[in-house]
Amino acid sequence: MYRFYLIIFSFLMSLSVSSMVNAGPQEDLLAYQKYFKKKFPNLSSVDLSNGMYNFNKDKREQWEEIMSFPPYEIAIDAGEELFAKPFKNGNTYADCFEKGGIAIAHTYPRFNQQLGKVTTLAGLINDCRVKNGEKPLPYLKGKLASILAYMAETSRGKAISVEVPNDAAALAAYEDGKRIYFTRRGPRAFACYHCHWEAAGSKIRGNELSTAIGQATHFPVYRSKWGGMGTIQRRYKGCMKNIGAKPLKQQTEAMNNLEYFHTFLSNGIPMNAPGSRF
Ligand code: HEC
Repeated sequence: MYRFYLIIFSFLMSLSVSSMVNAGPQEDLLAYQKYFKKKFPNLSSVDLSNGMYNFNKDKREQWEEIMSFPPYEIAIDAGEELFAKPFKNGNTYADCFEKGGIAIAHTYPRFNQQLGKVTTLAGLINDCRVKNGEKPLPYLKGKLASILAYMAETSRGKAISVEVPNDAAALAAYEDGKRIYFTRRGPRAFACYHCHWEAAGSKIRGNELSTAIGQATHFPVYRSKWGGMGTIQRRYKGCMKNIGAKPLKQQTEAMNNLEYFHTFLSNGIPMNAPGSRF
């Protein structure tokens, strides 16, 4: 009898150890969510998507005022028009995407198992253009950001659902994005993690730091500082520049893996893109 318990016990131990060793994206996410819940018990996951406005009442009021006439609406309209306009060969963007591109934005970035890499919606819009004989658009702002704004608007309210398939290459891309997120860079050796995780909610040079979870829900974004729209990778580059680091280039494997990991952190939170920020 004793031996029997011993066998059961060691079997259970091996299960729990192997699940620790194999801690995957889902286990990560639960632990990360728990961390922010403990740090900010009064903020729901939906609240987290309001970024720095959770931490400053005056800014929150100013922002809510701006949102009564959202500055990104022009971009949504422009994007809708661009999206519908046929290419010279008569095809449209809708031909390149499942469901004609409607209400899919909340499922990107995705890991494409055939290509063996992460694809972003911005990247696929340009792939679609090139496939149809058009020149690619610049990735960070302008027309591409408007098209993304329109596509995001059709996903508004849908929970962010970035999937990491149980596939070695997909897991490697996820792990690479995570590594980049936690890597120190620049002369003061800051990682994204230091500001938007450890120091989230506190102030740095007059700015309250938003939480990593919830940040990816409202891109592309209209920023007063930019006087226009920008994509999420434009924002990443801004943070890298602000800490004196050489920014990663947009749409590189590293940048796309970062977007994959960072967007995965917001899984389950309703998309509220496009958004607006100061
Ligand atoms: C030295 C601190 C610092 C570091 C390091 C840093 N950021 Fe930021 N980041 C800021 C500040 C300040 C803002 C503006 C206030 C806010 O929204 O948090 C910001 C804003 C953002 C936003 C916009 C949030 C929103 O609600 O729209 C994103 C996304 C972001 N950072 C991602 C990153 C990523 C990814 C990295 C790592 C490559 C990074 N940041 C590194 C300070 C930092």
